[in-house]
Amino acid sequence: MSTLTKLALGMMGQLRPRPAQGEGAASIALPEPVRHGGMPLMDALAKRHSGREFARRELPLPMLSGLLWAAYGVNRKDGGRTAPSALNAQEIDVYVALPSGAYLYDAATNALQRVAASDLRSVTGYQDFVDEAPLDLVFVADHARMKLVPVGQRESYASAAAGAISQNVYLFAAAHGLATVIRAWIDRGAIADALGLTHDQQVLLSQTVGYPKR
Ligand SMILES: Cc1cc2nc3c(=O)[nH]c(=O)nc-3n(C[C@H](O)[C@H](O)[C@H](O)COP(=O)(O)O)c2cc1C
Repeated sequence: MSTLTKLALGMMGQLRPRPAQGEGAASIALPEPVRHGGMPLMDALAKRHSGREFARRELPLPMLSGLLWAAYGVNRKDGGRTAPSALNAQEIDVYVALPSGAYLYDAATNALQRVAASDLRSVTGYQDFVDEAPLDLVFVADHARMKLVPVGQRESYASAAAGAISQNVYLFAAAHGLATVIRAWIDRGAIADALGLTHDQQVLLSQTVGYPKR
């Protein structure tokens, strides 16, 4: 769908999910992520950039697992994560829009839990590439977990946390030959509707990931 069409549909409140492709499972157990080795950090930083041309090829499950662990996985016995959060509120949820459905990343169990049995990728942004790229992430803040943060600071703290997660995704992508771009130009209402979010949950940003188009 073109960006203009999506903008028009968005203005009418009609940006809607497409039917899911294939039989998506209600729960997907992710393989154990590889937590060592890989490209040296300075090399990954040297390669980090935004890419907006994606092949349709889906990411294999081990790659998806590694990506999500790098993004916001549990990296310590005490439940600590790969990205920081103010007062360790861990208020960000990472939603995963795949052709087969939309899922919530459950870092504690290393699994994806389905939240919508439809293809939400096209709803995650106005730019046309989001429809066909194999994976769009959505970063959502749950304000109910930020009770200890003053109300006026909750959005900026959550946005900082989402930014850290996004950079983790950028570095994983750079290290694994993937393309990615963080996106703020999104229809937050349409995404919240499609994911079935509550009033405490705030859509912050979306990020597309995939193999670069050759
Ligand atoms: C908060 C934020 C919002 C952004 N929103 C979008 C967006 O909606 N669409 C897009 O294509 N790129 C978006 N970008 C990516 C920037 O355009 C990109 O980072 C910038 O052009 C610098 O390019 P680089 O990432 O390759 O260094 C966003 C970046 C940030 C930090």
